Amino acid sequence: MTLLRVRDLSVTFETGDGTVNAVNGVDLAIGAGQSVAVVGESGSGKSQIMFAIMGLLARNGAAAGSVTFDGTELLGLDEGALNRIRSSQIAMIFQNPMTALNPYMRISHQMTEVLTLHKGMSRRAALAEAIGLLDAMEVPEAATRIGMYPHEFSGGMLQRVLIAMALLCRPRLLIADEPTTALDATVRGQIMRLLADVRARFGTTVILVTHDVGIVAGHCDEMVVLYGGRVMESGPVARIFAAPHHPYTRSLLDAVPRLDRDDERLRSIPGDPLGTNLLPAGCPFAARCPRVEERCHRERPASERPAPDRVVACHRPLEGVA
Ligand SMILES: Nc1ncnc2c1ncn2[C@@H]1O[C@H](COP(=O)(O)OP(=O)(O)OP(=O)(O)O)[C@@H](O)[C@H]1O
Ligand code: SF4
Ligand SMILES: [Mg+2]
Repeated sequence: MTLLRVRDLSVTFETGDGTVNAVNGVDLAIGAGQSVAVVGESGSGKSQIMFAIMGLLARNGAAAGSVTFDGTELLGLDEGALNRIRSSQIAMIFQNPMTALNPYMRISHQMTEVLTLHKGMSRRAALAEAIGLLDAMEVPEAATRIGMYPHEFSGGMLQRVLIAMALLCRPRLLIADEPTTALDATVRGQIMRLLADVRARFGTTVILVTHDVGIVAGHCDEMVVLYGGRVMESGPVARIFAAPHHPYTRSLLDAVPRLDRDDERLRSIPGDPLGTNLLPAGCPFAARCPRVEERCHRERPASERPAPDRVVACHRPLEGVA
């Protein structure tokens, strides 16, 4: 069953310098129970897609297209109905943990408030529930630590607290926006494992937003590659890693340091990411693409399905059979 369907989603921002086209005609279909990575460089529109889904765009932003969650259209839904869905069905872990936490309030207060307000639980029951979730997220001595303030936690621990908080209302969909960016490699692995646990234990559908394609393999089923606010390629992670069809995906994968290669240095993709003020007539990746040809600058490549479960938008896709 498709839990979340995004059709032809565009997000624009009105600024003093004109209109910023952050997301341009994105389609996504996310099945219940799946774990999907949304991957792309900084500025590719990852967070704005998620904010549009959540109805949390900045004031100067507007979304067009369609976002349905379990059959309900979310775009244009009134604030009350959207709040009900946000407080019970969809949760998001924000890129900056501090936006979700009040630095002056103990974690106990911040976690129980949600349950006492939205679920009508007693404070005692809410506290027990919150401690149980912190325990499940492997926060040691959860019963003691829940009385602490956010600054008393390390980055990795704080991320566990945020995942526990996001799970309080047992959401069906959890959106994690760069949950591991500020963490070192070991802690990053632990958080990724926890997210996988969440899915296995609670049946939660997970969207992982990341610019780090290296953490996707082994943790997600499907991936969506974004560039310039457009989907360049999507499909099963294992098949894309084995044989990317889009030159941009290939560049991203080539930039991942691998132990089985001589050069362990991170190779960067030549050229600068696209500015979002200009909507190119052709392929957004044309200025950096090693396979570019004349028509790439003129004609926007349509999304094609080289296989039933794969999508690629490129005039000259790489050959591959995976
Ligand atoms: N309020 C705003 N006004 C104008 N432009 C905005 C606003 N918010 C975001 N943008 C622009 O939208 C584009 C997409 O931003 P988005 O936050 O989705 O990037 P991202 O892929 O999440 O990047 P990162 O990996 O750095 O988080 C960027 O060019 C950004 O500057
Ligand atoms: S459409 Fe052209 S420029 Fe764009 S990725 Fe494909 S080959 Fe490269
Ligand atoms: Mg972001």
